[in-house]
Amino acid sequence: MELLTILYLIGSITFILGLKMLSNPKTARKGNLIAAAGMTIAILGTIFLYQDDEGKKLGNYAWIFGGILIGTIIGAFAAKKVKMTAMPQMVSIFNGMGGACAALISLVEFNHLVNNSESSVNLGILSIILLGLIIGSVSFAGSMIAWGKLNGNIKKDFSFLRQQFVNIGILLAILGLSIFLVLNFSPENSNLFYVIFILSLLYGLLFVFPIGGADMPVVISLLNSFTGVAAACGGFLYDNKVMLTGGILVGAAGTLLTILMCNAMNRSLLNVLIGSFGGNKKTEGATSSSGGTVKEVTLSDTAVLMTYANKVMIVPGYGLAVAQAQHACHELEKLLESKGVDVFYAIHPVAGRMPGHMNVLLAETDVPYEKLMEMEQANEEFSTADVVLILGANDVVNPAAKESTSSPIYGMPILEVELAKNVIVNKRSRKPGYAGIENELFYRPKTSMLFGDAKKVLQDLISEIKNL
Ligand code: TAP
Repeated sequence: MELLTILYLIGSITFILGLKMLSNPKTARKGNLIAAAGMTIAILGTIFLYQDDEGKKLGNYAWIFGGILIGTIIGAFAAKKVKMTAMPQMVSIFNGMGGACAALISLVEFNHLVNNSESSVNLGILSIILLGLIIGSVSFAGSMIAWGKLNGNIKKDFSFLRQQFVNIGILLAILGLSIFLVLNFSPENSNLFYVIFILSLLYGLLFVFPIGGADMPVVISLLNSFTGVAAACGGFLYDNKVMLTGGILVGAAGTLLTILMCNAMNRSLLNVLIGSFGGNKKTEGATSSSGGTVKEVTLSDTAVLMTYANKVMIVPGYGLAVAQAQHACHELEKLLESKGVDVFYAIHPVAGRMPGHMNVLLAETDVPYEKLMEMEQANEEFSTADVVLILGANDVVNPAAKESTSSPIYGMPILEVELAKNVIVNKRSRKPGYAGIENELFYRPKTSMLFGDAKKVLQDLISEIKNL
């Protein structure tokens, strides 16, 4: 077997191992490094060992290493600087670059095809070039809009009357023109290729624009799977096994993640794509629509309640990430444990804004993994807890998901915090969370509100407990 093939095999195995290790917080970091090492081997192998049919090597080393250097500097700097809460945007922009690469490969290879068209054109190759162009362009344009929405650069969900029909029309035009070009390829009608390119970019924009800004994490995961498929097209084109394996793995993992996120929210992908979910309805009254009133609790009462509890369960949510309060949270946990209180964390699968958001946040501050309970386990344990402390979580504890058939989150599995003896909710106001809906939990008899920024509240709570 050729050395390059062996290196590609090693690369492919490291991708699979890395993915497997990413599924557990204990091994995730190592898994990421192993897959990155495999990718480095595959890239260096291609640069130095690849030879074409005439035995010619790649060359162009200054261009290649210049590009690698620029990419490495930008990537490393962005990864170091990014805040955890801005991670989905970064994934989106990086994913968009992957889509752009796939589209550029198709543009370059189509050019080769046109310039060498004396020899008969391989229809299979032309089809793969077109597939890479379409999927890559949609993924690039869509990811840029998703990035703009999440980053706040694009404020409004843009749509117009009968847009779904226009979108379907553009998609059909892309498919029709592609089939025509494959069946009637000649240098004279090569301009059609660029029409398909423009239409694909337009489709990417129009596909993502109307989707509710809050649904962007799901869309990013979907676009990520598109990019994987586009990269796999490149693998077919160059008969490059490692590119093919990598692309298929990204495509499959992205699809599974999209399905998992939709299931965890109890929504169909279609509903995510056309539902315009997560409006900015404001509900800030002191009474709920059912007439209940909120009850506030003081820091000192909370401190007493928690210190003399046997078991405290903490529910982290998006607000904890916004406040960057994970270190204070861990400090509170250690302080309570030192006073003989059992402390656990209840993690909802879609708490925060990206898969594993809360696990990553808590791992950052070295919370032991044994303290993290998944939703099913936590729901069995809540009845044994004296206090549930909700830190910046909202939708994932909203009883409307179980009780109100008209609620947009009806059917979404939630953390059943009301089974505990006392529920304390920390957030800054009565504003709704991601889904933009009121939360009846705040008005329930067992619930007390502890208003304020999560970090400040936790720091003050720690001082109160220390002074008891
Ligand atoms: P949310 O429902 O978004 O609620 C977060 C709450 O945190 C807000 O109500 C906000 O209230 C509060 N908050 C914000 N900043 C705060 C701060 N500095 N200190 C204290 N509180 C603060 O969060 P969740 O319960 O974690 O639910 C996640 C939502 O995102 C779900 O609806 C889920 O479906 C959706 N989603 C998740 C994912 C993934 S994969 N995780 C993907 C797509 C969608 P105030 O403004 O009043 O403080």
